[in-house]
Amino acid sequence: MTDLLSLRALSQTYVNGLDLAERIANLAGANYEETQVRAVNDVSFDIAEGEVIGLVGESGCGKSTLGRMIAGVETPYGGTLAWRGVALEDMTAEQRRQWELEVQMIFQDPFASLNPRMRVEQIVGEAAVIHGLIKKSERRDYVADLLTKVGLNEDVLSRYPHQFSGGQRQRIGIARALALRPKLIVCDEAISALDVSIQAQVINLFEDLRAEFGFAYLFISHDLGAVEHIADRVAIMYLGRLVEIGSSDEVFENPRHPYTRALLDEVPRLDRRQQEFNAIDGEIPSPLNPPPGCAFHPRCSLAAEICKQDLPTLQQGRDARFTACLLEHQTG
Ligand SMILES: Nc1ncnc2c1ncn2[C@@H]1O[C@H](COP(=O)(O)OP(=O)(O)OP(=O)(O)O)[C@@H](O)[C@H]1O
Ligand SMILES: [Mg+2]
Repeated sequence: MTDLLSLRALSQTYVNGLDLAERIANLAGANYEETQVRAVNDVSFDIAEGEVIGLVGESGCGKSTLGRMIAGVETPYGGTLAWRGVALEDMTAEQRRQWELEVQMIFQDPFASLNPRMRVEQIVGEAAVIHGLIKKSERRDYVADLLTKVGLNEDVLSRYPHQFSGGQRQRIGIARALALRPKLIVCDEAISALDVSIQAQVINLFEDLRAEFGFAYLFISHDLGAVEHIADRVAIMYLGRLVEIGSSDEVFENPRHPYTRALLDEVPRLDRRQQEFNAIDGEIPSPLNPPPGCAFHPRCSLAAEICKQDLPTLQQGRDARFTACLLEHQTG
């Protein structure tokens, strides 16, 4: 498999709630007290063609921020993001356009992301026309075909978003993403707002579409059962950093990082479908003022003196698994 996406030491820092591009636009008013939030910190991993990666972690750990940088909605503060081997800053205008087309994002609330005044044909097909993938005269047939693929009838072409249920709107959002023939789809909690029975349908739809179109996807979710079911690999995030990444089978079977273990502990394996992870004791520290050493040490039952001082980095263990735990690598 070839890597589509490579992230190296990627970070995002919001200063007064603005990302880098927004700050540059705002430079005129630069004379203020700064608050810095390190939302994503030193994240490195690759996504191969056709691969499904699950991204899991408590609220506020930086999952959406990472997803937005991967989809090009936000500019990284530091590190490297490369698409098809070309780093963001080295891309030609054409390579950048290709990256923006080839990575699409699907959001939690399909309603908020569908223009209420547009008909389905336009919502799904407009961008494909603008980017020259199809001619305007082909739009109707192109969209009708996509609608069938996501399980909607082509007679919905001339309807408006408010005429659909949540599950149907999510299918429209999926059709819109597919219309640009993406190679990677970032699904940010794409199923969490749907009824449980509909969630399973949408997950199955994703699986079918992936088999047909061969795209990769980053599946951000609180639903461990869904992640275990569909992800090839799973990445666990804590306070902006990856703490564990490995094959989904291995991580769920034998979680190694104390944080992953705490998330999965006691969640009965067979009941994991639609099951969120455990609530862990102790508060999530603020990314405004992260603890020294390992950010998880104040909540970790195994924490030793060294964990309060040294910063663990993601290291490969005995197998293809990477963990960021000083104790794990100390004891080998
Ligand atoms: N525009 C912004 N300005 C300032 N801080 C931000 C901004 N966007 C996100 N943050 C902060 O960055 C951190 C990561 O947020 P993010 O939304 O990426 O987390 P998440 O893992 O997606 O959470 P959730 O599971 O609740 O969706 C949080 O502390 C959040 O408050
Ligand atoms: Mg989020």
